[in-house]
Amino acid sequence: MEKFVIHGGKPLKGVVTISGAKNAAVAIVAATLLCDEPVVLENCPQISDITFCLKILSSMGAEVVSLNNNKVRIDPRGIINPKVPYDMATKMRASSYFLGALLGRFHEAHVALPGGCDLGDRPIDQHLKAFTSLGADNYVEAGEVHLSADMLVGSLIYFDIISVGATINAMLASAKADGYTVIENAAKEPHVVDVANFLNSMGANIMGAGTDTIKIHGVKYLHGVEYSIIPDQIEAGTYMVATAATRGDVLIKNVIPKHLESITAALRRIGVGIEEFDEAVRIYDKGELNKINIKTMPHPGFPTDMQPQVSTLLTLAHGASVVTDDIFTNRFRYVNELRRMGADIVVNGKAVIINGVDRLKGAIVMAPDLRAGAALVIAGLAADGETTIGDIHYIERGYEGIEKKLRGLGADIVKVEENKYSQSGSERNA
Ligand code: EPU
Repeated sequence: MEKFVIHGGKPLKGVVTISGAKNAAVAIVAATLLCDEPVVLENCPQISDITFCLKILSSMGAEVVSLNNNKVRIDPRGIINPKVPYDMATKMRASSYFLGALLGRFHEAHVALPGGCDLGDRPIDQHLKAFTSLGADNYVEAGEVHLSADMLVGSLIYFDIISVGATINAMLASAKADGYTVIENAAKEPHVVDVANFLNSMGANIMGAGTDTIKIHGVKYLHGVEYSIIPDQIEAGTYMVATAATRGDVLIKNVIPKHLESITAALRRIGVGIEEFDEAVRIYDKGELNKINIKTMPHPGFPTDMQPQVSTLLTLAHGASVVTDDIFTNRFRYVNELRRMGADIVVNGKAVIINGVDRLKGAIVMAPDLRAGAALVIAGLAADGETTIGDIHYIERGYEGIEKKLRGLGADIVKVEENKYSQSGSERNA
C-alpha cells in the first residue's frame, strides 16, 4: 500500500500543465468501440481509471497500442463478444459506458452493475430508460445488466433527472440507431460535449450537446480519427484551490477558462486572485480568504466534483461558510479526516458547516474517495507539519502524476510504501 507524505506550509509556485479530462476520456475510450476503423486518442490522461478502461477493451479483443505517454491507438474491430468481464465492470463507474457502446454496435450488451467511488446510491434507471426508448429490452440478473434489441430505433428520450452518465450513454446507443433521436433534459457538462464532438469527428450526426436538448440522426458507419481529449476542468480546479490554500502563485496551463467559470467565480468570491488567459489561468494570493455559501449544481453550476476541495479551502477562510451538495448522498466522508487536522467542519444533512480556523495541522488521514482524497492533499499542503494520506489509489484514479506535478510547484510531497515509510520514520527517530 502506498501513501503520500506531505510536509506542508509551503506556498505553491510556478507552472503546472493540466492533463486530459478523466470523465471525457473514460467515455471516449468506451465510445471507440462504435468505430468501424482504428482510432487514435491524444491527451489521454495517464490515470488508473483509463488504464483500466483500456484493459477492458483489450480483454474483449480490441488492439490497444500506447504510442507515447498520452497517445493511444485503439482498433476495436477484434471485439466479437458484447460482454465486459464481470470482475472488471464492477471496479469502476465508467464501465456503464460499455452498455451504451456495446448496445450501439451489437444491439446487445452484458455488463455487471458498475462500481466506482462510494458516493452513496448511484442508480442507473435513467440509462435503462434511454435504452428502452430506443427499443432495447433489459433485465438485471445476478448483478449483471443484460440488454438486447432486434433493432435500435431513434426516439424521444426524456430524462427525469439530469445525469451525465445517462446522457452520454443515450448518445452512444443512438449514434448508429435507425432514424432520429431527441434527448431532452440532457446534462451539459464539458465532457458530454467532448464525447459528442468525438462521435461527430468519426462521422456521427449529433447536434445540441452542451444544451438541454441533443438531437441525433443515426448513421451507419463511423470512420477512424485522431482526436484530442479536452483538458480536465476538475484537475485544473483542484490546482487552483491548492494554490489558494497555500497562498501561492501558479500559472495553470492547458485549460479552457470557459469550463472553469463556476469555479473561478466561487474562488473570486472567497478572495482569491485569478487572471485568465486564452488557455491558462494564474492563481495568486490577494490577502484574507472570506466565507461563502455555495451549492453544487449540474453544469454550468458549481460542480460536485469540486465540493470537497473548496470546502477544504473554506476551513481556512474568515467566518462561517455553508457548502450544500445533494447530487450524491455520501460525499462528505473527508469531513472527519479534516477534523483530525484541526478543521472546524461538521456535516448537517446535505451540507457542511465550516468555521474558518487560522491554520490546519498535519495528521494521519485516509482518502475515502477520489475528490475527497484530493481535498486531503490540499489540506496537507496547507497544514503545518507532516500529513500522511493512505488509500491514495483513489486519488490516482483521476490525477495524473499528482505528486510529481506538486513537487514541480515546490511542494514537499513523496509517495512511499507503507513499510518503507515506517522504516525511514524509525531511522529518523534513531
Ligand atoms: N442518477 C439517478 N439515476 C440514473 C443516473 C443518475 O438517479 O440513472 C442520479 C445520481 O444518483 C446522482 C445524480 O443523478 O444523484 C447525478 O448523477 P450522474 O449520472 O450525473 O453522475 P455519473 O454519471 O454517475 C459523473 C461523473 C462523476 C460526477 C457526476 C456529476 C463520470 C465517470 N463520473 O457521474 O465524477 O460527480 O457525473 O457531475 O463521468 C468524479 O470524477 O470524482 C466523479 C464522481
